Amino acid sequence: MTDQVKELVSKCLQARDKAYCPYSRFPVGAAVLTADGAIITVEHCKRAQGLSIVRVPGCNVENASYGLTVCAERTAIQRAVVEGHTQFSAIAVTCDIKDRFVGPCGACRQVLMEFGSDWTVYLTKPDGSYKETSLSELLPLAFSPSHLAKN
Ligand code: THU
Repeated sequence: MTDQVKELVSKCLQARDKAYCPYSRFPVGAAVLTADGAIITVEHCKRAQGLSIVRVPGCNVENASYGLTVCAERTAIQRAVVEGHTQFSAIAVTCDIKDRFVGPCGACRQVLMEFGSDWTVYLTKPDGSYKETSLSELLPLAFSPSHLAKN
């Protein structure tokens, strides 16, 4: 594992620990790597109710109106964009499932595609092991911004 991937994986695991998920109790963490090497992390949901979140850099939150929940991956992207990044090379995603690699939901795959198809995606287990895949593999024949270009 290169140091950069190691750090990205570690950041997504840390983010998961701060997740706010009082309804699903399904914490997810994500960290995106910008093309210039900055790592953006976001906690998706807090692991247990009652913990106070300190120094949250940008937080996705479940809501009593369930449909307002925002996934970890999307919040990470949103935070990165707010900080001025629109070029990315990789994302690491993790949850609490130990015995298999879990991919981002379909909506998040489409949101990643907004910023290009050339993403490396690290599906990360709680022990830090990961499976490397790509957005093209996860979202083949995708709709992308290029389809909106006028002929
Ligand atoms: N979730 C994510 O954060 N990312 C995904 O790619 C899939 C699902 C969250 C949404 C919800 O808070 C919880 O996991 C259970 O669906």
